[in-house]
Amino acid sequence: MNGSATDGKTVLITGGAGGLGLAMARRFHSAGHHVIVCGRTVTALREAEAEMPGLRAIRADVAKATDRAALFAEIAADGGALDIVVNNAAITRAHDYTDDFTLAGDRTRDEMEINFAAPIEMARLFLAWRRQSGRDADPATVVFVSTPGALFPLEANTLYCATKAGLHMFTLGLRRQLRATAVTVIEVFPPALDTNLTPDLVVANQAANGDEVIDGVASATVAGILAGEELILPHPDAAQLHNRFAMPFDDVLLDRINGGVARRPGWNATPAG
Ligand SMILES: NC(=O)c1ccc[n+]([C@@H]2O[C@H](COP(=O)([O-])OP(=O)(O)OC[C@H]3O[C@@H](n4cnc5c(N)ncnc54)[C@H](OP(=O)(O)O)[C@@H]3O)[C@@H](O)[C@H]2O)c1
Repeated sequence: MNGSATDGKTVLITGGAGGLGLAMARRFHSAGHHVIVCGRTVTALREAEAEMPGLRAIRADVAKATDRAALFAEIAADGGALDIVVNNAAITRAHDYTDDFTLAGDRTRDEMEINFAAPIEMARLFLAWRRQSGRDADPATVVFVSTPGALFPLEANTLYCATKAGLHMFTLGLRRQLRATAVTVIEVFPPALDTNLTPDLVVANQAANGDEVIDGVASATVAGILAGEELILPHPDAAQLHNRFAMPFDDVLLDRINGGVARRPGWNATPAG
């Protein structure tokens, strides 16, 4: 559990200058927390800075290793406080493996890099930075923004579901690995929202979920993060889908299966050459 709203946390939100990320930034900011957002569009970053005094907006493409490293270096140069990392940035594209457009070439890389590899690398960099700066014992939170589509296949954007499903499994595994540490691992399942996420798609329910719903989802999500809730279902639509499709976990069986797969001694020795 990571403290109350009056603790004055420092929170980094990827993709925090647009859509749900921006709505979350507003909630953290108005509650008195120090907010850092990153994204690729400079005008959106400058608008967020102008709207929220004290907010720090850093241009960074989370899919690029150099940008991720520069982002952490910039935060460290600032004095180094960072309590919460919200992995929110994502994209979704239409794919159809019966269609010439999809079959013509590899259009998967950026979606996999942004939605799957980047949040994993952001988590690693955060954990590495905590260790290097002697902050391992400080309470901290890593948040992964998922989607109900991580739990079932959507045909229109099946790669998006696959990337989020992979991230969901990573989230569960990371939470197990970090359970004896000061780091809380949180997963959020928002509903369909009328943001800029889906230019290729027409999504039922999305249009009805305008700014008020986005703000409500952001509000519930930020409250859940600050309360240290590991699973945040910030809207009834998302809760219904999650509860219908999420795999029920048998922790006793899971512990037993995990007991049967061990890391071989020496697995983490530096490879020769
Ligand atoms: N909208 C929905 O219906 C819905 C439903 C369930 C879950 N979600 C999840 O909610 C989260 C937020 O989505 P949203 O609806 O707010 O989408 P959005 O309006 O498209 O916002 C996404 C944000 O991420 C940023 N971003 C994208 N690629 C990036 C990159 N490579 N590096 C840094 N920033 C990047 C974008 O800014 P730039 O383009 O300027 O970089 C934008 O600010 C996502 O994880 C999404 O999967 C959304």
